[in-house]
Amino acid sequence: MSAGKLACQIASTMSSPAPSDVDPIASPRKRQALELFHGLPSRYDALSAAFSFWQDPRWRRALVSAAAPEPGDRVLDVATGTGMVAAELLSRCECSVVGIDQSAAMLSAASARFASREDSRVELLEGQAEALPFADASFDALTFTYLLRYVDDPPSTMRELARVVRPGGRVASLEFGVPPLAPARAAWRLYTAVGLPTLGRMASREWAEVGRFLGPSIRGFYERHPVQRIVGYWLQAGLEDVQVRRMSLGGGIVMHARKGAASAGAPSAGGSALEV
Ligand SMILES: C[S@@+](CC[C@H](N)C(=O)[O-])C[C@H]1O[C@@H](n2cnc3c(N)ncnc32)[C@H](O)[C@@H]1O
Repeated sequence: MSAGKLACQIASTMSSPAPSDVDPIASPRKRQALELFHGLPSRYDALSAAFSFWQDPRWRRALVSAAAPEPGDRVLDVATGTGMVAAELLSRCECSVVGIDQSAAMLSAASARFASREDSRVELLEGQAEALPFADASFDALTFTYLLRYVDDPPSTMRELARVVRPGGRVASLEFGVPPLAPARAAWRLYTAVGLPTLGRMASREWAEVGRFLGPSIRGFYERHPVQRIVGYWLQAGLEDVQVRRMSLGGGIVMHARKGAASAGAPSAGGSALEV
Protein backbone atom coordinates (compact mmCIF):
# COMPACT_ATOMS: atom_id res chain seq x y z
CA MET A 1 0.00 0.00 0.00
CA SER A 2 1.51 3.33 -1.01
CA ALA A 3 2.37 6.06 1.47
CA GLY A 4 -0.26 8.74 1.74
CA LYS A 5 -3.07 6.25 1.28
CA LEU A 6 -4.01 6.57 4.90
CA ALA A 7 -7.70 6.13 5.44
CA CYS A 8 -8.08 6.32 9.16
CA GLN A 9 -11.68 7.25 9.80
CA ILE A 10 -12.64 7.62 13.41
CA ALA A 11 -16.29 7.66 14.33
CA SER A 12 -17.37 11.10 15.51
CA THR A 13 -19.00 9.59 18.59
CA MET A 14 -15.59 8.66 19.94
CA SER A 15 -15.35 11.07 22.80
CA SER A 16 -14.10 9.30 25.92
CA PRO A 17 -16.97 9.08 28.41
CA ALA A 18 -16.39 9.04 32.12
CA PRO A 19 -17.43 5.69 33.60
CA SER A 20 -20.42 7.47 35.15
CA ASP A 21 -21.68 8.05 31.58
CA VAL A 22 -22.02 4.31 31.04
CA ASP A 23 -25.53 3.45 29.84
CA PRO A 24 -27.60 2.99 33.02
CA ILE A 25 -29.75 0.30 31.40
CA ALA A 26 -26.72 -1.75 30.34
CA SER A 27 -26.48 -5.15 32.04
CA PRO A 28 -24.15 -5.43 35.07
CA ARG A 29 -21.66 -7.40 32.94
CA LYS A 30 -21.57 -4.74 30.22
CA ARG A 31 -21.33 -1.89 32.74
CA GLN A 32 -18.43 -3.67 34.42
CA ALA A 33 -16.63 -4.11 31.07
CA LEU A 34 -17.13 -0.45 30.14
CA GLU A 35 -15.88 0.73 33.53
CA LEU A 36 -12.98 -1.73 33.62
CA PHE A 37 -11.48 -0.62 30.29
CA HIS A 38 -12.00 3.09 30.80
CA GLY A 39 -8.77 3.53 32.78
CA LEU A 40 -6.53 1.05 30.95
CA PRO A 41 -5.63 2.34 27.48
CA SER A 42 -2.47 4.32 28.24
CA ARG A 43 -0.33 1.35 29.29
CA TYR A 44 -2.55 -1.47 28.02
CA ASP A 45 -0.18 -2.83 25.36
CA ALA A 46 2.89 -3.03 27.61
CA LEU A 47 1.16 -4.30 30.75
CA SER A 48 -1.02 -6.90 29.02
CA ALA A 49 2.17 -8.34 27.52
CA ALA A 50 4.17 -8.21 30.76
CA PHE A 51 1.39 -9.69 32.93
CA SER A 52 1.15 -12.68 30.57
CA PHE A 53 4.94 -13.16 30.67
CA TRP A 54 5.03 -11.89 27.07
CA GLN A 55 2.83 -14.74 25.82
CA ASP A 56 -0.10 -12.56 24.79
CA PRO A 57 1.67 -10.92 21.79
CA ARG A 58 2.54 -14.45 20.58
CA TRP A 59 -1.10 -15.54 20.95
CA ARG A 60 -2.23 -12.46 19.01
CA ARG A 61 0.16 -13.34 16.16
CA ALA A 62 -1.25 -16.90 16.13
CA LEU A 63 -4.77 -15.44 15.99
CA VAL A 64 -3.88 -13.38 12.93
CA SER A 65 -2.19 -16.39 11.27
CA ALA A 66 -5.41 -18.34 11.88
CA ALA A 67 -7.50 -15.56 10.33
CA ALA A 68 -5.17 -15.77 7.31
CA PRO A 69 -5.97 -12.36 5.77
CA GLU A 70 -5.42 -12.14 2.03
CA PRO A 71 -4.69 -9.13 -0.19
CA GLY A 72 -7.88 -7.21 -0.89
CA ASP A 73 -9.74 -8.73 2.07
CA ARG A 74 -12.01 -6.61 4.23
CA VAL A 75 -11.51 -7.78 7.82
CA LEU A 76 -13.61 -6.92 10.88
CA ASP A 77 -11.72 -6.85 14.19
CA VAL A 78 -14.26 -6.97 17.02
CA ALA A 79 -13.22 -5.79 20.52
CA THR A 80 -10.33 -4.11 18.77
CA GLY A 81 -9.33 -2.24 21.94
CA THR A 82 -6.09 -0.34 21.34
CA GLY A 83 -5.85 -1.83 17.85
CA MET A 84 -3.05 -4.36 18.31
CA VAL A 85 -4.81 -7.10 16.32
CA ALA A 86 -5.84 -4.61 13.65
CA ALA A 87 -2.22 -3.46 13.32
CA GLU A 88 -0.98 -7.05 13.07
CA LEU A 89 -3.59 -7.81 10.36
CA LEU A 90 -2.47 -4.78 8.35
CA SER A 91 1.18 -5.76 8.70
CA ARG A 92 0.47 -9.18 7.17
CA CYS A 93 -1.04 -8.15 3.83
CA GLU A 94 -2.74 -5.49 1.73
CA CYS A 95 -6.11 -5.89 3.42
CA SER A 96 -8.34 -3.27 5.00
CA VAL A 97 -9.57 -3.49 8.58
CA VAL A 98 -12.61 -2.17 10.42
CA GLY A 99 -11.97 -2.14 14.18
CA ILE A 100 -15.03 -1.97 16.44
CA ASP A 101 -15.18 -1.68 20.23
CA GLN A 102 -17.70 -0.51 22.81
CA SER A 103 -15.09 1.45 24.79
CA ALA A 104 -14.45 4.96 23.52
CA ALA A 105 -11.38 5.15 25.77
CA MET A 106 -9.78 2.05 24.22
CA LEU A 107 -10.64 3.31 20.73
CA SER A 108 -8.90 6.61 21.46
CA ALA A 109 -5.67 4.67 21.96
CA ALA A 110 -6.29 2.78 18.69
CA SER A 111 -6.90 6.08 16.97
CA ALA A 112 -3.57 7.43 18.25
CA ARG A 113 -1.80 4.27 17.05
CA PHE A 114 -3.07 4.62 13.48
CA ALA A 115 -2.90 8.41 13.26
CA SER A 116 0.89 8.20 13.14
CA ARG A 117 0.96 5.58 10.35
CA GLU A 118 1.16 6.47 6.70
CA ASP A 119 0.70 3.05 5.20
CA SER A 120 -2.49 1.61 6.56
CA ARG A 121 -6.21 1.61 5.87
CA VAL A 122 -8.24 1.25 8.98
CA GLU A 123 -11.63 2.43 10.12
CA LEU A 124 -12.47 2.57 13.83
CA LEU A 125 -16.03 2.48 15.10
CA GLU A 126 -17.68 2.58 18.49
CA GLY A 127 -20.22 -0.24 18.66
CA GLN A 128 -21.22 -3.50 20.24
CA ALA A 129 -20.44 -7.05 19.23
CA GLU A 130 -24.02 -8.03 20.09
CA ALA A 131 -25.48 -5.76 17.39
CA LEU A 132 -22.98 -5.06 14.62
CA PRO A 133 -23.85 -2.13 12.33
CA PHE A 134 -23.11 -4.10 9.14
CA ALA A 135 -25.10 -5.99 6.52
CA ASP A 136 -24.94 -9.78 6.30
CA ALA A 137 -21.79 -11.19 4.65
CA SER A 138 -19.95 -7.84 4.53
CA PHE A 139 -16.53 -9.16 5.55
CA ASP A 140 -14.04 -11.71 4.21
CA ALA A 141 -12.71 -12.46 7.69
CA LEU A 142 -13.42 -11.56 11.30
CA THR A 143 -11.23 -11.60 14.41
CA PHE A 144 -12.18 -11.07 18.04
CA THR A 145 -10.05 -10.96 21.17
CA TYR A 146 -10.97 -11.51 24.83
CA LEU A 147 -14.61 -10.74 24.06
CA LEU A 148 -16.94 -13.57 25.07
CA ARG A 149 -16.39 -13.19 28.84
CA TYR A 150 -17.88 -9.70 28.58
CA VAL A 151 -21.13 -10.54 26.77
CA ASP A 152 -24.35 -11.74 28.42
CA ASP A 153 -25.24 -14.30 25.77
CA PRO A 154 -22.19 -15.86 24.04
CA PRO A 155 -24.19 -18.13 21.65
CA SER A 156 -26.22 -15.19 20.39
CA THR A 157 -23.10 -13.01 20.04
CA MET A 158 -21.42 -15.79 18.04
CA ARG A 159 -24.39 -15.82 15.66
CA GLU A 160 -24.12 -12.06 15.26
CA LEU A 161 -20.37 -12.26 14.55
CA ALA A 162 -20.86 -15.04 11.98
CA ARG A 163 -23.73 -13.15 10.32
CA VAL A 164 -21.45 -10.42 8.94
CA VAL A 165 -18.91 -12.87 7.44
CA ARG A 166 -19.37 -14.02 3.84
CA PRO A 167 -19.84 -17.74 3.14
CA GLY A 168 -16.37 -19.28 3.00
CA GLY A 169 -14.91 -16.41 5.06
CA ARG A 170 -12.77 -17.01 8.15
CA VAL A 171 -13.42 -16.33 11.83
CA ALA A 172 -10.65 -16.44 14.46
CA SER A 173 -10.63 -15.66 18.17
CA LEU A 174 -8.26 -15.37 21.09
CA GLU A 175 -9.39 -15.86 24.68
CA PHE A 176 -7.59 -16.58 27.94
CA GLY A 177 -7.86 -20.21 29.05
CA VAL A 178 -7.46 -22.31 32.18
CA PRO A 179 -4.64 -24.86 31.70
CA PRO A 180 -6.15 -28.37 31.53
CA LEU A 181 -3.22 -30.25 33.14
CA ALA A 182 -3.17 -30.26 36.95
CA PRO A 183 0.36 -28.88 37.63
CA ALA A 184 -0.05 -26.04 35.12
CA ARG A 185 -3.56 -25.35 36.41
CA ALA A 186 -2.22 -25.12 40.00
CA ALA A 187 0.46 -22.64 38.88
CA TRP A 188 -2.19 -20.65 36.94
CA ARG A 189 -4.45 -20.52 40.00
CA LEU A 190 -1.60 -19.30 42.21
CA TYR A 191 -0.60 -16.66 39.67
CA THR A 192 -4.15 -15.36 39.12
CA ALA A 193 -4.95 -15.45 42.86
CA VAL A 194 -1.73 -13.89 44.18
CA GLY A 195 0.73 -12.79 41.47
CA LEU A 196 -1.63 -10.92 39.17
CA PRO A 197 -3.41 -8.95 41.94
CA THR A 198 -0.01 -7.98 43.38
CA LEU A 199 1.38 -6.87 40.01
CA GLY A 200 -1.86 -5.00 39.32
CA ARG A 201 -1.62 -3.10 42.61
CA MET A 202 1.98 -2.13 41.77
CA ALA A 203 0.87 -0.73 38.38
CA SER A 204 -2.15 1.45 39.23
CA ARG A 205 -5.58 1.54 40.85
CA GLU A 206 -7.19 0.55 37.52
CA TRP A 207 -4.81 -2.36 36.97
CA ALA A 208 -5.34 -3.48 40.57
CA GLU A 209 -9.00 -3.95 39.62
CA VAL A 210 -7.94 -5.98 36.55
CA GLY A 211 -5.61 -8.07 38.70
CA ARG A 212 -8.43 -8.93 41.12
CA PHE A 213 -11.03 -9.47 38.41
CA LEU A 214 -9.25 -11.53 35.77
CA GLY A 215 -8.70 -14.91 37.46
CA PRO A 216 -12.26 -15.31 38.82
CA SER A 217 -13.68 -13.96 35.54
CA ILE A 218 -11.79 -16.52 33.42
CA ARG A 219 -12.54 -19.41 35.79
CA GLY A 220 -16.22 -18.50 36.08
CA PHE A 221 -16.56 -18.16 32.31
CA TYR A 222 -15.27 -21.69 31.63
CA GLU A 223 -17.42 -23.13 34.44
CA ARG A 224 -20.47 -21.72 32.62
CA HIS A 225 -19.11 -22.26 29.10
CA PRO A 226 -16.60 -25.16 28.84
CA VAL A 227 -14.51 -25.07 25.66
CA GLN A 228 -16.50 -27.88 24.00
CA ARG A 229 -19.71 -25.91 24.58
CA ILE A 230 -18.12 -22.83 23.02
CA VAL A 231 -17.23 -24.97 19.99
CA GLY A 232 -20.97 -25.79 19.86
CA TYR A 233 -21.82 -22.06 19.80
CA TRP A 234 -19.53 -21.65 16.78
CA LEU A 235 -21.14 -24.59 14.98
CA GLN A 236 -24.66 -23.33 15.80
CA ALA A 237 -23.66 -19.97 14.30
CA GLY A 238 -23.02 -21.66 10.95
CA LEU A 239 -19.23 -21.98 11.29
CA GLU A 240 -17.47 -25.13 10.10
CA ASP A 241 -14.15 -26.90 10.65
CA VAL A 242 -13.78 -25.34 14.07
CA GLN A 243 -10.23 -25.74 15.38
CA VAL A 244 -9.04 -25.11 18.92
CA ARG A 245 -5.39 -24.42 19.69
CA ARG A 246 -4.32 -24.21 23.32
CA MET A 247 -1.12 -22.19 23.69
CA SER A 248 1.29 -21.68 26.62
CA LEU A 249 -0.03 -24.79 28.46
CA GLY A 250 -3.60 -23.62 27.85
CA GLY A 251 -3.29 -20.06 29.21
CA GLY A 252 -4.30 -18.77 25.77
CA ILE A 253 -6.83 -20.35 23.39
CA VAL A 254 -6.93 -19.54 19.69
CA MET A 255 -9.97 -20.82 17.80
CA HIS A 256 -10.70 -20.56 14.12
CA ALA A 257 -13.27 -21.73 11.60
CA ARG A 258 -14.78 -21.08 8.22
CA LYS A 259 -18.28 -19.75 7.54
CA GLY A 260 -20.37 -22.43 5.88
CA ALA A 261 -22.16 -21.97 2.60
CA ALA A 262 -25.58 -22.19 4.33
CA SER A 263 -27.54 -19.02 4.97
CA ALA A 264 -26.28 -16.65 7.67
CA GLY A 265 -26.76 -17.96 11.20
CA ALA A 266 -27.96 -21.41 10.06
CA PRO A 267 -26.38 -24.11 12.19
CA SER A 268 -23.60 -25.98 10.45
CA ALA A 269 -24.98 -29.48 9.79
CA GLY A 270 -21.73 -31.28 9.10
CA GLY A 271 -19.56 -29.16 11.39
CA SER A 272 -16.63 -30.62 13.23
CA ALA A 273 -14.25 -29.50 15.94
CA LEU A 274 -10.59 -30.41 16.16
CA GLU A 275 -8.33 -29.70 19.10
CA VAL A 276 -4.76 -29.03 17.91
C1 LIG B 1 -8.98 -7.26 26.80
S1 LIG B 1 -9.50 -6.08 25.58
C2 LIG B 1 -8.84 -6.73 24.08
C3 LIG B 1 -8.34 -5.64 23.17
C4 LIG B 1 -7.51 -6.06 21.97
N1 LIG B 1 -8.29 -6.70 20.94
C5 LIG B 1 -6.29 -6.87 22.31
O1 LIG B 1 -5.79 -7.54 21.41
O2 LIG B 1 -5.79 -6.86 23.41
C6 LIG B 1 -11.21 -6.46 25.41
C7 LIG B 1 -11.94 -5.39 24.61
O3 LIG B 1 -13.25 -5.86 24.38
C8 LIG B 1 -14.09 -4.73 24.39
N2 LIG B 1 -15.46 -5.22 24.56
C9 LIG B 1 -15.96 -5.91 25.61
N3 LIG B 1 -17.23 -6.23 25.38
C10 LIG B 1 -17.56 -5.74 24.15
C11 LIG B 1 -18.74 -5.76 23.36
N4 LIG B 1 -19.83 -6.36 23.81
N5 LIG B 1 -18.73 -5.16 22.16
C12 LIG B 1 -17.60 -4.54 21.72
N6 LIG B 1 -16.44 -4.49 22.42
C13 LIG B 1 -16.42 -5.09 23.63
C14 LIG B 1 -13.56 -3.89 25.53
O4 LIG B 1 -14.01 -2.56 25.45
C15 LIG B 1 -12.07 -4.05 25.33
O5 LIG B 1 -11.52 -3.04 24.53
